[in-house]
Amino acid sequence: MVDLPVIIENPAGLKTLYRPDINETYHSQHGAIQESMHVFIEAGMRFWIKTKQQKKLSILEIGFGTGLNAILSLIEAEAHDIHVHYTGLETLALPYSLVSKLGYQAHWDQEHETKYAAMHEGEWESNLTIDTNFELQKRLIGIENFETNEQFDLVYFDAFAPDKQSELWDLAIFQKIFQLLAIGGILVTYSAKGDVRRNLLAAGFEVEKLEGPPHKRHMLRAVKMKTQ
Ligand SMILES: C[S@@+](CC[C@H](N)C(=O)[O-])C[C@H]1O[C@@H](n2cnc3c(N)ncnc32)[C@H](O)[C@@H]1O
Repeated sequence: MVDLPVIIENPAGLKTLYRPDINETYHSQHGAIQESMHVFIEAGMRFWIKTKQQKKLSILEIGFGTGLNAILSLIEAEAHDIHVHYTGLETLALPYSLVSKLGYQAHWDQEHETKYAAMHEGEWESNLTIDTNFELQKRLIGIENFETNEQFDLVYFDAFAPDKQSELWDLAIFQKIFQLLAIGGILVTYSAKGDVRRNLLAAGFEVEKLEGPPHKRHMLRAVKMKTQ
């Protein structure tokens, strides 16, 4: 059994979660919200909305964790009036009593904090209607064992870093995700490591290196242009 992560704080007072057993944080220590907005919302969700102009979007997240990407996606779905079906995969469920201490609520209002709490307190393995724009399914299962008939439009690949969890960044996992995506589907991730890029290319994706969030040079966006 893995212990729950602990909260650490940077000199500017920004908090994140830390797993001592693997010496790894959940987010950049330069700011979780800024990083999530840049990598997943801006390069992923907003790019998808701009290029596809569709009203329904299905998102798969590898590493639901604090649910930060989920609540930011909900806020974005409301702003663009689109409907999101969000599936979050996770192997270590975090309680709201822990994530609510990270100070994220300073970035949204009480109504959204209530929705954020509902995301955490809702049952795993069931469909949760968080609001009219947003349905959530949390699955307590690793990507390597996940099976579904669903096809996704957008994948947020937010596993721990490749040097901590190399098995999640290998070709077999990216081949699996390629199969889970619809044609035109997109994967975004914060890592721009050479091996990650090569594995994505070998899985069949077209891969773009984009500017990374502050304090990080690059990130990757991979698109499934055709069936392999
Ligand atoms: C870098 S953290 C990011 C978490 C989350 N996206 C967030 O914003 O808080 C990586 C997450 O991946 C989860 N994880 C670890 N192994 C996994 C696996 N095999 N499949 C899916 N998620 C996994 C971890 O427990 C952790 O919550």
